[in-house]
Amino acid sequence: MKLLLKNERHLIERWCNALHNRVPGLEVSTFPFVGDPAEVDVALVWEPPQGLLASMENLRLVISTGAGVDHILRDPSYPRHVPLVRMVDPGLTQGMVEYVVMATLLCTRRMHRTFANHANKVWQEEEVPLATDCKVGIMGIGVLGEACASALLGMGYNVMGWSRSPKQLDGVETYHGINGLEMFLNRAEVLVCLLPLTPETEGILGRGTFNRLPQGAAVINAGRGAHLVEEDLLAALERGRVEVAVLDVFQEEPLPPDNPLWEHPNVFVTPHIAAVTTPETAIFSVADAIDELRHGQPLSNQVDLEQGY
Ligand code: NAP
Ligand code: GLV
Repeated sequence: MKLLLKNERHLIERWCNALHNRVPGLEVSTFPFVGDPAEVDVALVWEPPQGLLASMENLRLVISTGAGVDHILRDPSYPRHVPLVRMVDPGLTQGMVEYVVMATLLCTRRMHRTFANHANKVWQEEEVPLATDCKVGIMGIGVLGEACASALLGMGYNVMGWSRSPKQLDGVETYHGINGLEMFLNRAEVLVCLLPLTPETEGILGRGTFNRLPQGAAVINAGRGAHLVEEDLLAALERGRVEVAVLDVFQEEPLPPDNPLWEHPNVFVTPHIAAVTTPETAIFSVADAIDELRHGQPLSNQVDLEQGY
C-alpha cells in the first residue's frame, strides 16, 4: 500500500518515522510526489494544493492531519467518491482544552486591563468575577467543544453549548440550530467558537451575533479565521459590546503586519497554535484508519461530505 504525505515541512521527518514504526508494510512518499500518481492508495494531508487529490485516480482514502477539513474540501476538484477521515487525537483535544481554559481565564480575569496597567506601571486592583459567576457559551460542541465544556465545568464555570443537532451533556445547558441561537447568544458572557468551517458557519462571528451578546462580552475564536468578520469585531470592540477577544485563527494567515487586530489593546493574538497535531500521538488514529481500510471495515471519524465536517 502506498501513502502520499503532504504536511508542513518541519513535521515531515516525524511523520515518516511515526508511519514507519506504526504501519508496517506501508510505502511512504512525500510531496511533491515523484512517480505515477495512479499508484497512490492513501493521502495523508494538510492543505493539499488544488487538483492534487483528483490527480490520483486509484486513491482509496484521504486522511486530514487536522481536525478541520475545510483545507481539503475547498478544492472543488476533490474526488467525492473517496472517503475522507479527519483527525481525532487525544493530544489535539488536550491542546484545545488548555487553550480554551487559558483564553477563558484571560477574559474573565480581565487580564487585558491588568497587562495594560503593568505596561504603565499602574498598581490597580481590577474587580473580577469568579468562574461560578460567569457563563461561557461554546459554539460547536463536538469532540473539541465537549472536552472544553467538561474542563470549564470542572473549574466552576456555567457552560452552554450550541450545535446543529440536539445534544444532552451532563451539566451543560444545550441549544441547537438557528432557533436556539438567539437564546444561547443572549446568555453568553464568554463566546467560544469551535465550529468547523462550512458554508453555514462562515462569517457566523459577525455583527448580528455580537449584537445579541451581553454588553461587555468576550469572544474567543479557535475555529477558523473565516468564521470571524474582523471589521465587525473591531466595531463591536469600539462600541463596548465586546470588551475583549482572544483570536487564534484569521482570514489571512500569517496575520499581516498592518492588520489592526495586532495593536488593539483588548485583543490577544495567537498564531494558529490552539491545538497542534503531533505525529507521535496522531499516528494511532492514522494507523486505525489504514487498518480499517485494509480490512474493509467502516471508517472511524469519516467526514460527511454533504455536511462538510
Ligand atoms: P466536530 O467534532 O465535528 O464538532 C463540530 C461541532 O460543530 C458539532 O457539535 C456540530 O454539531 C457543530 N456544528 C457544525 N455545523 C454547525 C452549524 N451549522 N450550526 C451549529 N453547530 C454546528 O469537530 P471538532 O473536532 O470539535 O473540531 C471543530 C473545529 O475546530 C475544526 O473543524 C477546526 O476548524 C477547529 N480546530 C482549530 C484548531 C486550532 O488550532 N485553532 C485545532 C483543531 C481544530 P453536531 O454535533 O450537531 O454535528
Ligand atoms: C487545526 O487547525 C486543525 O484543524 O486541526
